[in-house]
Amino acid sequence: MFESVSAAPPDAILGLTDAYKADPNPDKINLGVGVYQDASGKTPVLGTVREAASRLAKDLASKSYLPITGSAEYGEAVQKLMFGVEDEIVRSRRAVTAHTPGGTGALRVTADFLKQNFEDATVWLSQPTWANHPAVFAAAGVPTKIYSYFDKAANGLAFDKMIADLKKIPSGDVVLLHGCCHNPTGIDPTPEQWKQIAETLRSMGAMPLIDFAYQGFGEGIQEDAAGLQAFCRPGEELIVCSSFSKNFGLYRERVGAATFVTADQDSALRVGSQVKRAIRSNYSNPPSHGAELVVTILTDHKLRQQWDGEVAEMRDRINGMRKLLVEKLAEHGAPGDHSFIQQQRGMFSFSGLTPEQVERLKHDYAIYIVGSGRINVAGITPQNVDRLAHSITDVLKG
Ligand code: LMR
Repeated sequence: MFESVSAAPPDAILGLTDAYKADPNPDKINLGVGVYQDASGKTPVLGTVREAASRLAKDLASKSYLPITGSAEYGEAVQKLMFGVEDEIVRSRRAVTAHTPGGTGALRVTADFLKQNFEDATVWLSQPTWANHPAVFAAAGVPTKIYSYFDKAANGLAFDKMIADLKKIPSGDVVLLHGCCHNPTGIDPTPEQWKQIAETLRSMGAMPLIDFAYQGFGEGIQEDAAGLQAFCRPGEELIVCSSFSKNFGLYRERVGAATFVTADQDSALRVGSQVKRAIRSNYSNPPSHGAELVVTILTDHKLRQQWDGEVAEMRDRINGMRKLLVEKLAEHGAPGDHSFIQQQRGMFSFSGLTPEQVERLKHDYAIYIVGSGRINVAGITPQNVDRLAHSITDVLKG
């Protein structure tokens, strides 16, 4: 039977890591997958995570199954982090949170939930968006369409076009927005623009679905939740898919959450029952360790403060590398103005490099970036920035 199976193409992002690993060039640089590296090129285990892990190891009570949607403590901690400790959504219990294996798991659970309960709904994606978004919804049989987002000429947000597109979305459809640190462009709406986006969706009767994978990497942990909070009004509904891969450095633990904010507690119970149904036929119930680490850190005052500092350190290092890359490109005489790299936020920079230039960087310089021209700024270090700027300059000059 298997002889009839044809090979699938490598994944646009994770496939790059395989190619990078197989490259014998000692000076190779991996700026593909969105993983944070420190100045020495290592992806560190956060101090708070080490501390939480050692506390958990001492108090290990059981490895029995978790509930289908994970522990109640985790759900509460996730909601407080996103909406604020005293927020009406948290107090009224009109939101239900499922602990999922990573942010991708949250998106897939959401997609399955939509398919089962809103068969005619289309999910609208920004143009461009994370390369895996269309695939996740397609796998669940949920149709997707696109709305304008990126203004290539201005290297900024195509806000007017975006609003014009959102105004055409039929009531009952779902609009996926990146809560902060847009992947791949690094361009976010301003607080005022968030308000207008929320108003538009409200007037169209469209459901906001916020992909929230980089909280803390933009302006700050609280500040980065402002976009999402523009959708939080009493009785209003939204869905949030969050990930703790990046801000806790828990990539391989697969810690995420799907939060359904409903109109009231009764709706939350019914929606929760459907979310459980989607999860049970998929992975049954979530893995516990990563979520226990997150709960331990978020519910301990001292660890929580320490974590704020760790996230700030990662954010500052990335912003420092943005500045250095812009300076180095200028130093090497790279054609064009690259100052936009410093305006972008989060892990990524949408560099404007063409697929051919990306291919040349890989082939001739052993520099791995995503085909769309997305660079993982968090992979740039003081050691590799000069070679990177020099290579980009060569490629831009043709
Ligand atoms: C990325 O965009 O590089 C990350 O979200 C990792 C992934 O799974 O693609």
